[in-house]
Order: sequence, then C-alpha cells, then structure tokens
Amino acid sequence: MEREKLLEFRHVSKSFPGVKALEDINVDLYPGEVHILVGENGAGKSTLMKVLSGAYTATSGELIFEGKRIEKNSPHISEALGISMIYQELNLVPELSIASNIFLGHELKKGCFVDTRAQEKRAAELLNEIGIRVDPRTLVKNLGVGTQQMVEIAKALSKKAKVIVFDEPTSSLTDSEIQELFGIIRLLRERGVGMFYISHRLEELFKIGDRVTVLRDGRQILTDTIDHMTMESVIENIAGRKIENLFPHVRKEAGEPLLEIKSLSGDKFQDVSMTVRAGEIVGVSGLVGAGRTETARAAFGIDPYTSGEVYVCGKKLAKHNPERANKLGMCLLPEDRKLEGLALSLSIRENTVISSLRALNPTGIINDAKERREVQKSIDELEIATSTMDKLAKFLSGGTQQKVVIAKWLMSQSKVFIFDEPTRGIDVGAKSSIYQLMDDLVGRGAAILMISSDLTEIMGMSDRIYVMSGGTVVGELDQRQATQSDILQLAFSNV
Ligand SMILES: Nc1ncnc2c1ncn2[C@@H]1O[C@H](COP(=O)(O)OP(=O)(O)OP(=O)(O)O)[C@@H](O)[C@H]1O
Ligand SMILES: [Mg+2]
Repeated sequence: MEREKLLEFRHVSKSFPGVKALEDINVDLYPGEVHILVGENGAGKSTLMKVLSGAYTATSGELIFEGKRIEKNSPHISEALGISMIYQELNLVPELSIASNIFLGHELKKGCFVDTRAQEKRAAELLNEIGIRVDPRTLVKNLGVGTQQMVEIAKALSKKAKVIVFDEPTSSLTDSEIQELFGIIRLLRERGVGMFYISHRLEELFKIGDRVTVLRDGRQILTDTIDHMTMESVIENIAGRKIENLFPHVRKEAGEPLLEIKSLSGDKFQDVSMTVRAGEIVGVSGLVGAGRTETARAAFGIDPYTSGEVYVCGKKLAKHNPERANKLGMCLLPEDRKLEGLALSLSIRENTVISSLRALNPTGIINDAKERREVQKSIDELEIATSTMDKLAKFLSGGTQQKVVIAKWLMSQSKVFIFDEPTRGIDVGAKSSIYQLMDDLVGRGAAILMISSDLTEIMGMSDRIYVMSGGTVVGELDQRQATQSDILQLAFSNV
C-alpha cells in the first residue's frame, strides 16, 4: 500500500533577476523520512527550502501539504502547518534563557502574563525528550553551538513540527555533538516527523538518509533511495563529472621552517608550540573549543597573547599586528568568513583582488585587463558559480562566498597559510580544486597549517598532525602512522 505523502513540491521553479535558481523541481517527503538534499554551492538547496518556509515565493509550481495545496505560503502559514527550519546560523536570542527562546512567539500564558514556571517545566520536558540535560533557565549565550542547535530542535518540537528542515546543521558541530544530533534525528524519524537535511559532508548521507535528491544548477538531477547509491555515484551526480582522487596531496621534501609558534599562551590556550616547514601541510585537529582558532588568530596578530613568540620566514612577528604578518608573507583564512573575510557590499572581483593589489599592480597603476584575467582564472579554478565577476558578494550562496575568500588569499602570493576550516560548507567539486591548489602551493615551497574538524580531510591532506585539547597541544602524529581513532582519543584527552 502506498503511504500517504506528507509533503510535495510539484513543478516548482524560482527565478531571481538573472538567475534561474530552481527549475521544475518535483520532490516529496514521507512521514518519518530523512530526505537528503545535496548539490554544489549555488545549486538551489537553500532556495528550495526557503520556498517551503515561505521566505521566498515560487515563480511557478505548487506545494502540497498533507494532500492539500498551500495557497499562498508565508513564514507564518508554514509555521502554523508544522514546518520548522533549523538554519546553520542559529536564530536564538543570546540574552534570553533556553525556556524563553523555546517559547518565543508562542509563549505559555497565565491570564495575560507569561507563565515562566510553566515554560521552564515544559522546556525541561522537551529537552529531556531529546536527551539533553541542561537547566532551561540557562542563558543561550552561555551554551555551545551544539547545545544551541538542540534548543532549536526543542523549539521545533514545542510547535509540534511535522516537518523539520536542517540546512547544513553539522558544519560547526563537534563529532560527539554530531552523534547526538543523529540520535535525535533517528528519534524524530520514529515519531513520524519528516525531515529534509542539507549537507556537504557526504558520509552523513549514508548514516542517516533514507532518500537523496541531487540538485545541479537549479535542476533536479536525481531522486533515489540511499541503498541505490554509492559514494562515487553521489559525487559524480553532484559534480557532473568523475572525481578520481579527492585528496591529491603527495608528500614533499620538507625545507626550512617558515612558521614557528613558540610557547604561545593566551586566554584560551597555553604553551602552544607548532612548526611548519616549506613544502609541508600540517593539520591541526581537535574538538570545537580546543583553542585552535584562538591560537591561529593570536599567532597572526588579530588577538593578543600573554607570552610566547611567533616567527614567519625566520622573522619575529610583533604582537597584535596582522598587517606586518601579511607583509612578511603570512595569511589567515578565517573560520568565520562572512564576518572577517568578505566585504558583502563589494563585488567578487573587488573582494578577490583586495589583498593583492600591490602584487598585481606593482607600479601603483591599476591594470584592468590583467586584474580581470587573474580574477577570471580563480573563478574558473574554484568553479565559482556566478555569471559575472562584478556580482556583489551578498547575492552569492553561502559556499560560493567562501570560495571568493579562498580565491582572495590564493592570489596574494603568500608563503605561509593558515587555513581555518578551509572547506566547510563547500561542495565536493570545489573541495577537490582547493585540495589541488593546496598541494600546488606547497609544491612551490609554501607552508600550510590547516585547522580542520573534518577527520577525513585531516587524514587525506596532512603530512603531520597536531592534536589540541583543552587549549594545549596534546600530541603530534605523523600522518603515515596515525589513525582516526588515535586522533579522537587525543582530542578527548584534556577536556
Ligand atoms: N535573494 C537572492 N537574490 C539573488 N540571487 C539569489 C538570492 N538567493 C539565492 N540566489 C541565487 O540562487 C542560486 C541558488 O542559491 P542557494 O542559496 O539556494 O544555493 P545552495 O544550493 O543553498 O548553495 P550552498 O551549498 O552554497 O549553500 C545561487 O545562484 C544564488 O546566487
Ligand atoms: Mg545553502
């Protein structure tokens, strides 16, 4: 017997000026199903979900929910129907408690007053249902990202969600938080909640997915059950081509030390020493909160440190002076690219050339043709999805924005690169280009320190690996001898 569909997109299309973001999409969802959406950056995944949430209105096509057509969707209507969105950028109010956040907009009342007690009690029950032990009176600003996401889920449950959409939920979660999230998703599945799940981490699809839909350039390439798919077929469908070897890095002869961090201590890290030689890619693994980003930011001079020294190409860096670090040939690709790496109101071209203006135009006169040529080269290499290099950064999809930041640093002709989560939120085709570029960079004698929470990436790209835990380096491993479980054990050793 055919089960009843919970939800159906019928012939849905959506255009923005100059872009067909979705073209004739037909996707459905059953109760208790985890339907995975994958595709390159800019493929249309978030747009499709925003049509569902009512944030965007489809240009044509219909949405059917529990057999009935949704006439004029809006955020209000979809919410009332029981459709909840959990975005990567969480939407909680930091200054409010967990309980107040859960019931924000649909407060429990006693007469005309908010019944704080009742909210706290119900919040505790909801959190308990998903196995989270935390006091509902805790302020959200005091929670880690993982727990904040659990609060979002509890909030969805408080609204009796029948459909929950997760848009790249795991990109800033630690491994154990991801396991926890998967546990909750399985629980929701048993309860009959239908879920859409967007991710660039393809191994996740095989862990929790029931069906998968691949989008490319706004078109639906395929929808099928997971057991009909393999990792190779998924990758091929996403990229539209075969990717033979995702990790192309070949170990080079290591040369002089180009980056030396010596006994660096600060607020969130103590006595951190790391060395990266010319020709090396050195991974930094650890749990979120282990102090990796903080160390990198201090070493580069963005944040202060209390003691220790940093040398770049043998020259000592001054504290708190990122311009000097940059002049000496060092650059940092920050974790939070939206905030730190990109000027949203500038174009792709302007963002890309911003830090290499001098190198591109040594005479001080802007050479328009040369600049365009170089920018176009990066756009091609990184497969940046855009019709023109003059498009403003704010109109690009999340992953495409990240590629622009990477293009910017790759063009700057630096010698020492710190990459903080270089491929987070980036599609598999571009990942492979970025890995290739990293390998080219060290082939030309650069040194790369790569902070990553993706163990596959750490194992696939590093020559050596530092593991940080609780703000210190707890181990240094040679990639050839290390296993993923060695790294995990170290990562948990000092929490
Ligand atoms: N508000 C908007 N105005 C103009 N163009 C937009 C807007 N929102 C999305 N787009 C365009 O629609 C296309 C699809 O974007 P979307 O955000 O859905 O991609 P995505 O698949 O979620 O990508 P990612 O994996 O990078 O998050 C892109 O070309 C994007 O630039
Ligand atoms: Mg998206």
